[in-house]
Amino acid sequence: MSESEMKVAQLRAEEIIYRYLPEEKGYPSTVVSAINYSVKAGGKRIRPIFMYETYKMFGGDDEVIEPFMAAIEMIHNYSLVHDDLEAMDNDEFRRGRKTTHVIYGEGMAVLAGDGLLNMAFETAVKAFDLCSNKKDTDRVIRALRVLAEKSGLQGMLGGQACDVDAEQKKKQIDIDELMYIHENKTGALIQSAMMIGAILAGASSKEVDIISQLSLLVGTAFQIEDDILDVEGDEKVIGKRVGSDEKNNKTTYVTLKGLQEAKKDAREMSEKAIELFDGIGKSNDFLRNLMLSMIGRTN
Ligand code: IPE
Ligand code: IPE
Ligand code: MG
Ligand code: MG
Ligand code: MG
Repeated sequence: MSESEMKVAQLRAEEIIYRYLPEEKGYPSTVVSAINYSVKAGGKRIRPIFMYETYKMFGGDDEVIEPFMAAIEMIHNYSLVHDDLEAMDNDEFRRGRKTTHVIYGEGMAVLAGDGLLNMAFETAVKAFDLCSNKKDTDRVIRALRVLAEKSGLQGMLGGQACDVDAEQKKKQIDIDELMYIHENKTGALIQSAMMIGAILAGASSKEVDIISQLSLLVGTAFQIEDDILDVEGDEKVIGKRVGSDEKNNKTTYVTLKGLQEAKKDAREMSEKAIELFDGIGKSNDFLRNLMLSMIGRTN
């Protein structure tokens, strides 16, 4: 997968996401401006891209995927705005610029995050307007269920809460608890992205199950790589400060297992994901290469 292919995919995703963003007008315009500031800061857009490519792999070729692509990026952005708050990771840089709370203040950043979460579901339900028969409607219902579950207690929020809990209690967590955190705070949204792509394209339940397994591996490896980048990443490339985890005395995959093991484990998880992917019997070279490019990523 070349850099320009990735750029094209990112621009396509961005065009869709931007279409669903609100206009900065009327009394609540400041919160809208904070929302747009956080979403328009760039970012890799890997969740909507994973969703779209999985959808295509299973033969999807309809607009019904678009509201879900925007929705998953909105949920991801909400998680980042809140994650950076002083009450959580207390970070001042993200995507190469000041974090939302630094620019807009804490209260507005909290509301911008809440707004994004709500807007994600307002956006996703617009997929019903694009359904022309019961089969499509049923798929949208199933996709919505996945989106809701994987964003909440049984997913991202559950993982983030456990992460905060460990930090607040200065608790030494073991590898089982850390795996729970990584699988949920980060794995779950990437998992939901690919599952939704498969579901909306009409993949069989066996296929959705394999996608669910492999995308959880991809998502968990993605967070391990993030922990590695927090130690040895280049700030100019990752667009955020290194050493955030150490500053917060966080237990990460790197503090528990060391850099070398972390790299090895992330690679093995990605390779296992590719093995499952190859067993599906459908092909999408771009998606396969995208999954491979996550190994030892620099951003
Ligand atoms: C950062 O996600 C937070 C994690 C879940 C590791 P990304 O690395 O996808 O951030 P952006 O969207 O590219 O900025
Ligand atoms: C965050 O993990 C996962 C989220 C759900 C936002 P991190 O706290 O490690 O993400 P970064 O490093 O701030 O992007
Ligand atoms: Mg965090
Ligand atoms: Mg953080
Ligand atoms: Mg991190």
